[in-house]
Amino acid sequence: MRSRRKPPCAAHLIILILCSLLLSTTVTARPFVLVLSQDDLKDGPVDESPDDPSSVADWDEFGESDARSDDDLDPGSWRPIFEPDESNSNSAEEFPINPQLEEYYSSVRKMVAAVSDGGRAMEDVASEIESAAATGNPHAQSLLGFLYNTGMARERSGAKAFMYHHFAADSGNMQSKLALAYTYSRQDVYDKAVILYAELAEAAVNSFLISKDSPVIEPVRIHSGAEENKEALRKSRGEEDEDFQILEYQAQKGNAVAMYKIGIFYYFGLRGVRRDHAKALWWFSKAVDKGEPRSMELLGEIYARGAGVKRNYTKALEWLTLASKQKLYSAYNGMGYLYVKGYGVEQKNYTKAKEYFEKAAENEEAGGHYNLGVMYLKGIGVKKDVKLACKYFIVAANAGQPKAFYQLAKMFHTGIGLKKNLPMATSLYKLVAERGPWSSLSRWALEAYLKGEIGKAFLLYSRMAELGYEVAQSNAAWILDKFGEASMCMGESGFCTDAERHQRAHSLWWQASEQGNEHAALLIGDAYYYGRGTERDYDRAADAYMHAKSQSNAQAMFNLGYMHEHGQGLPLDLHLAKRYYDQALEIDPAAKLPVMLALASLWVRRNYANSFMVDLIDSLPGVYPKADEWIKNVVMEEGNATILTLFVCLLTVLYLRERQRRQVAAGGGGGGGVAPPPLRPNDNVAPLVN
Ligand SMILES: *[C@@H]1O[C@H](CO)[C@@H](O)[C@H](O)[C@H]1NC(C)=O
Ligand SMILES: *[C@@H]1O[C@H](CO)[C@@H](O)[C@H](O)[C@H]1NC(C)=O
Ligand SMILES: *[C@@H]1O[C@H](CO)[C@@H](O)[C@H](O)[C@H]1NC(C)=O
Repeated sequence: MRSRRKPPCAAHLIILILCSLLLSTTVTARPFVLVLSQDDLKDGPVDESPDDPSSVADWDEFGESDARSDDDLDPGSWRPIFEPDESNSNSAEEFPINPQLEEYYSSVRKMVAAVSDGGRAMEDVASEIESAAATGNPHAQSLLGFLYNTGMARERSGAKAFMYHHFAADSGNMQSKLALAYTYSRQDVYDKAVILYAELAEAAVNSFLISKDSPVIEPVRIHSGAEENKEALRKSRGEEDEDFQILEYQAQKGNAVAMYKIGIFYYFGLRGVRRDHAKALWWFSKAVDKGEPRSMELLGEIYARGAGVKRNYTKALEWLTLASKQKLYSAYNGMGYLYVKGYGVEQKNYTKAKEYFEKAAENEEAGGHYNLGVMYLKGIGVKKDVKLACKYFIVAANAGQPKAFYQLAKMFHTGIGLKKNLPMATSLYKLVAERGPWSSLSRWALEAYLKGEIGKAFLLYSRMAELGYEVAQSNAAWILDKFGEASMCMGESGFCTDAERHQRAHSLWWQASEQGNEHAALLIGDAYYYGRGTERDYDRAADAYMHAKSQSNAQAMFNLGYMHEHGQGLPLDLHLAKRYYDQALEIDPAAKLPVMLALASLWVRRNYANSFMVDLIDSLPGVYPKADEWIKNVVMEEGNATILTLFVCLLTVLYLRERQRRQVAAGGGGGGGVAPPPLRPNDNVAPLVN
């Protein structure tokens, strides 16, 4: 007898890419998880990728020597308003720039001011923007799209927003491209979304911010669940943060690691610190005097980029070599890059470059894997091997290397190296695209929030929300919920009415929940369940809870169980209800108490259908769908056991009283003071289900 052949090992190959870009302890949305199966990997001959000389900045170092500035990459950026650059504003006075841009920036400025003034200011700006848009100013068109999308000083209209973003995108406004791409991907029009996101991702890859230490540049979530995220906010206070001040003190006392860290904060503009290359350079230079290797590598990068200094590849190589001698393997990436390009060295030497990249890769430097991937993808110094390239990219992506996501997205997009998969390509490109220069909006929003300028913060988050940033969507929605009128939300005329505010919050939470934010999905579910800010609708509530359930959210499971138990929005089904309750418990042991209460009530319901006990349970305050709050408010204060015991005692006492009452009624009195007969739980009611 032939035993069935085991499938080849490779068929079980599952590659998990945990997108560490989104990983952070405070994140409520699940991290993006990319699961590649053997099916995604192409078998058989691989199509030759056409050499694509236009693709730039493939190397994981420094970008190209003629890299474009963030402002070039994001025309119409709001940077001049939120991060005015003194040297630029001077030169602007000498050479009056494009009057279209002047007009546009004046409108943005007025719009930001209008948020705090209220009244008719916003309507005046809107008219100004509208007439500029009518003359074909793409940036004004993009703004007008924003007004229509949000319903500020204009009647909310998705169609008009789409139209104006379309015009603006056609004329090169990148933020409108992002808004369009997001709209298309929401409608599953992937063939259009993917093209826009690809272009945006390429721009992002070319931007400075994509480089190192990127996780910290992610938009900050200002709330966690319903509460303000104090920890994250504290860490974003820049130079005012106590930790930063302690670090600075240590650096001044001569601690080289502290010097390096301060330098990094200034170099990338992390944690609310304003980017300042001069200060970064100053601290790195002090740190290298003490032999701090990572600062040497950064100096190498600074000289190769010419960031705030005159570009000098010779110096770059010197610093990188020094760093590599101290066993800082990531420095080999930079050296390899210089050899690929022939910068600062006698001549190009691909063999040497490859040796360096391998050295980095052997020491688990994601950049090394990535660069080897590029060599094999393009056949530089090696025989072209797209499959091998793909493997290297997957390793690098697993380590959170954003450019590797970009390469994998390209493979899914073109079908070279991986099976064509447009939805997958879209979501990978989106991850990368969202790190482009436009992500600075989030920094300004946070700055405004920390300064207590809620209206400004809300405006900026609203803009990012329409560009598809999940974090901004939930931040904006949270501000609306938390601050109410103080959110300075601008409506169709003047400040938002309550209805407008609720409607807007609802739509923002909805979008965030679509993008996998569990908290948002629960809020949406609750909104439909209780009819808050929308019509009560149990079906939609169930839908939303299902959404959160698919992400293994214990509370969603619990709520689904509850809805099955009561036949709200879902068929009355006590079996299923129990299954959901059990699952909730499996996922989150902290849900033990509410689940036990729910199971107890389910048990009563099964065994005492139509009895007063069921009414009793139903009349218990609507705590069940709010298990979370319940746990917080009651259990944490009083302790589980007490509450549970009380509940059980209450049920027992009530049950005994009921028995007694019936017996008195049946037995014609005289039974007072007699101990109740032993319990026979199933004696009077036919069980509903078993
Ligand atoms: C670049 O640096 C090297 C070594 O430090 C120096 O000799 C050279 O003059 C510099 N080149 C320029 C153009 O500044
Ligand atoms: C390139 O580097 C390799 C290995 O380091 C070396 O053996 C070779 O001679 C170099 N080639 C040239 C042309 O310098
Ligand atoms: C409540 O129950 C959970 C899970 O059983 C347990 O971890 C926790 O310590 C309990 N809390 C109190 C206050 O008893």
